[in-house]
Amino acid sequence: MLSYRHAFHAGNFADVFKHTLLLQLVQALRRKDKPFCVLDTHAGTGRYDLHSASAAKNQEYADGIGRLWNQSALGPELSEYREQVRALNPNGELRYYPGSPRLIRTLLRPDDRLILTELHPGDYPVLKAEFASDRQTAVHHADGYAVFKAFLPPAARRGLVFIDPAFELRDEFDRLLEAVQVIHRRWAGGIIALWYPILDRAPSLRWRRALRELAIPAMLCAELGLQPYDAPFGLHGCGMIIVNPPWQFDELLKRLLPELRQRLHRSEQGETRLDWLTPPP
Ligand SMILES: C[S@@+](CC[C@H](N)C(=O)[O-])C[C@H]1O[C@@H](n2cnc3c(N)ncnc32)[C@H](O)[C@@H]1O
Repeated sequence: MLSYRHAFHAGNFADVFKHTLLLQLVQALRRKDKPFCVLDTHAGTGRYDLHSASAAKNQEYADGIGRLWNQSALGPELSEYREQVRALNPNGELRYYPGSPRLIRTLLRPDDRLILTELHPGDYPVLKAEFASDRQTAVHHADGYAVFKAFLPPAARRGLVFIDPAFELRDEFDRLLEAVQVIHRRWAGGIIALWYPILDRAPSLRWRRALRELAIPAMLCAELGLQPYDAPFGLHGCGMIIVNPPWQFDELLKRLLPELRQRLHRSEQGETRLDWLTPPP
């Protein structure tokens, strides 16, 4: 049963992290003059109203995009991310928040393509309506883990698979592990970006070890921890695994992760981490 609704969490610190990185991955794809395709397997609804009852309940966005809204002197990546959110809020008041599909879509050139899958029967129609007359974006009511055979490799042969699961299933890490293998077998050159939460430290550490053992080359891991990992409750941090990251993406993250931590600061004991799980070939 699907109970997770991203509307409750839109614009929180995890969204700031994943969406800032996502924009930079798509920007890197734009640097070459050849078309690319992005598959966003867990797409959500595409945009969120932060004044809705769901978003207003815990106001998670206040400690995410809300922290950045009026800050001065943001670094280039956070500044670009905030510009994208501002574009949805032309009167200057933070109300609408773009989900990953909308963010990716704003960067597509005329020959680039976006494929979206969303399984929730309530969220899918909203997503479908958001991209109703868009010929570059295909929206499917489907299990994002079950579409790799159908969609990969894409005709463009360049691009990104972005996997941002809800983590309501006990075996989500196992599913991700399986997904990386299937995607890599079908499309060894594609970029894969996987987001994961850090609640208890142990499962994410086990998962990192399991990824390493796959021996797929060029797996970069970036983590943002905002409070001690042994704190009793809550989402302590999150991470992203990037397979085949663009050139010098590690250098970009070396600069960006400390800034994310400083801007979203919650505790002196937070930490960031950046390492290659497997080196580039
Ligand atoms: C964390 S949210 C995605 C947020 C979105 N990627 C964004 O950044 O705006 C996870 C989404 O995955 C959907 N979902 C859960 N299981 C799924 C599956 N097996 N296939 C596709 N979507 C799924 C949920 O309904 C939810 O909308």
